[in-house]
Amino acid sequence: MSTGWNFTDQMGTFRMEAPHRNSHLYFPLANEAGMMSAVTPALHGDIKTGQNTFFSTPVSADDLHNTKSNRNFWIYIEGKGAWSAAGASALQHSELFNKDTEEKVTLRAGFLWHKVIRENERLGVKAEITSFVPANQYRVELMKVAVSNTGAAEIRVTPTAAIPVYARSAESLRDHRNVTSLLHRVYVVKEGIEVQPAMTFDERGHKVNRISYNVYGTDDAGKLPLGAFPVAEEYMGEGGSLEWPETIAANRREFCLPGQEIEGYEAIGALRFDDCRLLPGESKSYIIAMSVTEDRNTDKSGILGFLNMAGFEALLKKTQEYWEEKLGRISFKSSDDKFDGWMKWVSLQPILRRIYGCSFLPHHDYGKGGRGWRDLWQDCLALLLMETDTVRAQLWNNYGGVRLDGTNATIIGKEPGEFIADRNNISRVWSDHGAWPFFTTLLYLNQSGDMDFLFEKQAYFKDRLIARSTGIDEDWTAGYGNRQKCDNGEVYTGTILEHILLQNLTAFFNVGEHNNIRMENADWNDALDMAAQKGETVAFTAFYAGNLLELGKLLKKVREERGRDRIEVAAEIAVLLDTLSQSISYDSPAEKQELLSRYYKTCRHNISGQKVLLDTARVSEDLNTKGRWLSQHIADNELVKTPEGLEWFNGYYDNRGLQVEGVRPEGVRMTLTGQVFPIMMGIASKHQTGSTIKAVDRYLFDRKLGSYRLNNNFNELKLDLGRCFGFAFGHKENGAVFSHMTIMYAFALYRQDFVQEGYQVLKSLYNISTDFDRARIYPGIPEYINERGRGMYHYLTGSASWLMLLMLTEVYGVGGNAGKLYIRPKLKAGQFDGTGTASVKTVFADRTVRLVYRNRQHLDYGEYSVKSITLDGLRLDLDLDPCQAEIDRAAVLKLDRNMEHLIEVELGAKKP
Ligand code: G1P
Repeated sequence: MSTGWNFTDQMGTFRMEAPHRNSHLYFPLANEAGMMSAVTPALHGDIKTGQNTFFSTPVSADDLHNTKSNRNFWIYIEGKGAWSAAGASALQHSELFNKDTEEKVTLRAGFLWHKVIRENERLGVKAEITSFVPANQYRVELMKVAVSNTGAAEIRVTPTAAIPVYARSAESLRDHRNVTSLLHRVYVVKEGIEVQPAMTFDERGHKVNRISYNVYGTDDAGKLPLGAFPVAEEYMGEGGSLEWPETIAANRREFCLPGQEIEGYEAIGALRFDDCRLLPGESKSYIIAMSVTEDRNTDKSGILGFLNMAGFEALLKKTQEYWEEKLGRISFKSSDDKFDGWMKWVSLQPILRRIYGCSFLPHHDYGKGGRGWRDLWQDCLALLLMETDTVRAQLWNNYGGVRLDGTNATIIGKEPGEFIADRNNISRVWSDHGAWPFFTTLLYLNQSGDMDFLFEKQAYFKDRLIARSTGIDEDWTAGYGNRQKCDNGEVYTGTILEHILLQNLTAFFNVGEHNNIRMENADWNDALDMAAQKGETVAFTAFYAGNLLELGKLLKKVREERGRDRIEVAAEIAVLLDTLSQSISYDSPAEKQELLSRYYKTCRHNISGQKVLLDTARVSEDLNTKGRWLSQHIADNELVKTPEGLEWFNGYYDNRGLQVEGVRPEGVRMTLTGQVFPIMMGIASKHQTGSTIKAVDRYLFDRKLGSYRLNNNFNELKLDLGRCFGFAFGHKENGAVFSHMTIMYAFALYRQDFVQEGYQVLKSLYNISTDFDRARIYPGIPEYINERGRGMYHYLTGSASWLMLLMLTEVYGVGGNAGKLYIRPKLKAGQFDGTGTASVKTVFADRTVRLVYRNRQHLDYGEYSVKSITLDGLRLDLDLDPCQAEIDRAAVLKLDRNMEHLIEVELGAKKP
């Protein structure tokens, strides 16, 4: 039984009845200071600030139905017994599926707050619990509980907040759970309790601990708790549980008083408030603060400062405004309010991934925080559209992770630009890693016109791994540090352009026996990790081909428009631009590998520090030649066909060196990844794209789910390709609807002007993500949809960035072209509202712009062209290509930064 959520305003606020009737439904509460919570309708879900600082017991999605990390708030009603305002009691559970006893529960949520309203008619009580993490410098989650008497008679209640405090590293969940509880020191203070373990036992060794995990509370009259039951086992009682604790069920009153200290037990912030009488219709409210602080004093007064009703409300308002301002920088308006509201939640997701990394929400029960290299770059796609002021520094910092062999550091620290040497001796290399930085950087260059960025200097990452992790630099020690040095001992720096060249050129030469780029330990699909020897990724060969061609064009532009006739690179690198000196035969994989190892020998330990100046035009031509060669190679060798005449691209070679896709004795095999990049990068001709679309529809479109799968069923535990084939078909990287790739597919189709087809793909993902009865997730895009239609790994996914990029730069067609603002709408007739209007608000060149399309004749894409454009009411005299127009950056820069500017674009019938 469920009705799903509905938006209640245009700001993304939503409401839902009976949210407790859904499993695995969680909501994120977080801030930039690093407080990371998850909360369910029954207030399950954990609170933490990092892998080693979990406030509450770490939970996976499958733990959300038990109570180990539940926030709870109990009232004992005189004459009636105990009731959990959170719905987390054994009694309420036992009444769950009974229509006579089940409570009425409503959820309301917005940016970034969560409210559950729960009413028990039989008992005549109602509770409204509002939770949020303030958008400020404190690591605190706040919760307000308002209890009301909805019955006809006065009631007397005993209130107790009950917040279990785990207070240690996630590693101790199984490993020394009990021993680490012996480290606990619990202090009962007048506001609540503070748990400050004496030491920490984790991967960092045995250390003295200062971090404090605190639960404070107050009532609406400013009255502090009477005391606390801080020892979990005493609170629960022998044989009791968090769902039915003896302390509550028997309404015990032997609480500890401020000043008491308890050592060595699992802790709980069970704060007892004074009894209160509620007349019919009367309410009483309590505020609970759950915080993680550097020690028992730091930040305490700040946190206590908003532990009052006015402080709570003011902070909630400020938090809502903070997110609304941040997310309001890009917004879409179409004929479908629900879609527009949904996009607001999508635009939150890249920020959430910046905060949570790829860990720390209930489905993301792996990793220790942080993001991988490709995620870092792809999240920047959206962040650079939203957080325009910090993007240049972010990109520059990220380039500091590149090694001279074209690979990169894979452990990314918390600080910007912090890359850490792999301590676990996992020397994996992902073949796709070198491809993403240029894609993101090109978007930045186009948006900003900031070509100088290419010539900024940055260092390289250095550790003991060399030659794409096939060798070890025995001379490297930790004392050398993590920055590449020259022979003279100085840190070597090269331009950002040099970093980009290295990433793409080393990939070009790193081919397998079929002359495609080697798979190494996996590509985008992390789970294709069993073909390191003979595996090849044609999918990313296409991506690198596209990069080389774009890079060639970029250098041409740099030379023509900026007069840079020469570019400077490290002397060692010149060999990779072989056509400038001694060309090798690209048809020979052996010659390519030989050239690469020659280069790798020159940068084993230090490099010379010598630079050479190269002719920009010749470098540009070298890149073009390489890009063209790769494209032709794919077109000549990697198209596969079915007997019915459907043609598409083979995306992979397995570890036996065999083509993966096409008609095989076991049946037809196809991957979506294999199709996406040849189309996105323009390697596929129009005809080939058309045919590939038909093949995707035939083999990857799932009618039951209504969207596109990552691959069809190979019906084999394909140990010569990757672990994903061990996953049941239809889950995660084995044939789920994997949003990230599906969105990139839509993006690729729009990019090649297959708008109708791209729109179908986009719509399919929207429909499947918002089909609540199957997906059972709040608004937003999940990482994937499993074969039952359930949305999985919600919130933390690169799909969100791509979806924003797709909507802004392709569907609404607004973006930068070398700094100019282009306008190239690809909206379908149905996306314009009843008046023929569709609009988008965005930031360009630091100016807020609202772009309004008027399609008064309700024409479809392909039928309309741009007729006229006005900027703040003044008609612009522009060269109007039928499909697009460009506004000079100079005209944009003249606009006032502090105002919103209106660009109105009149669309009319295209001339035949
Ligand atoms: C996740 C990972 C991403 C990887 C993908 C496929 O996707 O974060 O790095 O490429 O799985 O294995 P996401 O969560 O970004 O949708």
